[in-house]
Amino acid sequence: MHCAYYVAGRCRSCTLIEQPYPGQLDDTQRRTAETLGARPGLRWEPPRASAEAGFRNKGKIVVGGTVQEPTLGILDADGHGVDLQDCALYVPAIHDALPVLAEFVTRARLDPYDVPARRGELKFVLVTASPDGQLMLRFVLRSQEPVARIRKHLPWLQAALPGLHVASVNLLPEHKAVTEGEREILLTEAETLRMRLDVDLHLRVRSFFQTNTDVAQALYRAAREWTDDVVPARVWDLYCGVGGFALHLAGAGREVTGVEISADAIESARRSAQDAALAGVDFEASDAGAWATTRLAAGEGGSTTRPDLVVVNPPRRGIGELAPALEHSDVPYVLYSSCNPTSLARDLDAMPSLRPVRAQVFDMFPHTAHAEVLTLLRRTEDADGPADTPAHGQWSGA
Ligand SMILES: C[S@@+](CC[C@H](N)C(=O)[O-])C[C@H]1O[C@@H](n2cnc3c(N)ncnc32)[C@H](O)[C@@H]1O
Repeated sequence: MHCAYYVAGRCRSCTLIEQPYPGQLDDTQRRTAETLGARPGLRWEPPRASAEAGFRNKGKIVVGGTVQEPTLGILDADGHGVDLQDCALYVPAIHDALPVLAEFVTRARLDPYDVPARRGELKFVLVTASPDGQLMLRFVLRSQEPVARIRKHLPWLQAALPGLHVASVNLLPEHKAVTEGEREILLTEAETLRMRLDVDLHLRVRSFFQTNTDVAQALYRAAREWTDDVVPARVWDLYCGVGGFALHLAGAGREVTGVEISADAIESARRSAQDAALAGVDFEASDAGAWATTRLAAGEGGSTTRPDLVVVNPPRRGIGELAPALEHSDVPYVLYSSCNPTSLARDLDAMPSLRPVRAQVFDMFPHTAHAEVLTLLRRTEDADGPADTPAHGQWSGA
């Protein structure tokens, strides 16, 4: 795909953008399979492609330049703003909002934070778009000084961006390489953005959501189909965020428990379950590893509460000590969704009794070397031979 910013050397984030997309996807598939290494009995589904442009539902946009001429984009090597308002990756609602946000910076006199000089106020705008074009917008500020001006000019912004649904200020007083601080000040009555998928998911200001809504929906659908194939009565969704997997797997008399460290995300997940009138789903705010390890250990000797399938969708570091706990449990199936094939390979090696039988790449991050991969693991007593495959799977890949 042609990108003028890439050609001009202004942004090099999309390292593969000059390679035609079908070749990128083939390479992502090949690299992911190589990283996982030889896994007897594992069959790959064809990779799920993304749109090449207009797919990114969130922007972590660095604000630089001056009040009169702000830049919305990234920082260069010297810490100065590079404007990328015309980035083709954003969904239309974000792409179209960026010039309006630049004008808002000038109107509300929000002094962009100057990283080398450690001076100024506005560090980032964090923006997320729902599938129906509504926006959640967060201004990350060094201090509260500009908050009154943001409030004063908010009606102008709401008139200019009718899709603006949730707006807030996040305070990040420290000079450090993170995109948000602990304290949030909500500016709108609405506190959640509704992500309309097969199940509507409520998103709060401080909760994680997958970057590519269309591919995320495909991922949750695949998870539901693969789960239905193995007919589990009891499911845990660990690292559940706002409940994407749990809420898509719920129903049909199945008991589903989601566990996530962020209390905000858990509140969102509970609200989504309630709105969808889903029975048999509950959520807990807790450390997923500790929560599951304790219960798996207590379940030794034939507990009736043992899950039939455990979904894990951890951060890039992987599942750590949870891998040996699952290995030594009698959980028959694990569905592992990973954004880091390297930590996935390590975790698979730590669970030799749980053999990968089915996998698929979901291209959540086109034009980069990153990959999301969904893998179904099945417990097998025979650690040397290939794992049996689920009885009802309709697999298309080889
Ligand atoms: C890759 S996201 C997955 C979110 C969710 N499954 C989804 O589909 O959107 C990883 C999630 O793990 C959560 N997390 C990080 N460390 C955790 C921990 N120790 N225990 C539970 N959740 C954790 C993060 O807050 C984040 O929501």
